[in-house]
Amino acid sequence: MKPILALILLAFSVSIARAEEKPITLKAGPDADVVAANCSICHTLDYIPTNSPFMNRQMWTAEVNKMINAFGAPIAPDDAKKIIDYLVGMYGKPG
Ligand code: HEC
Repeated sequence: MKPILALILLAFSVSIARAEEKPITLKAGPDADVVAANCSICHTLDYIPTNSPFMNRQMWTAEVNKMINAFGAPIAPDDAKKIIDYLVGMYGKPG
């Protein structure tokens, strides 16, 4: 392949990658705003759909607790409950 063509292709794929980087919107549902406010402090909300849908309640609970206990997420216990309910309902499997 001629180097110039390779460069054009490279530039093209970079611009596609950029277009995909726009922030994701969470599925509409009860307390989606609580999740968005608490879970986008340290990383993007992409982490949520990336890890679903195989996560059940126990796994999402452990995940949210890990954010709080291991990483220091400033999430009130009341909000943590709402967040877990939302995650299991929208991005998890029951059980
Ligand atoms: C205090 C900062 C902080 C907050 C707030 C936070 N996280 Fe995280 N999260 C991290 C760090 C640090 C990692 C792991 C390192 C990385 O991959 O960026 C992570 C990783 C993750 C992962 C990937 C899997 C894993 O365990 O590494 C998921 C899913 C996740 N977070 C979900 C959430 C959810 C849901 C919330 C809201 C309840 C949340 N995070 C809030 C810091 C935070």
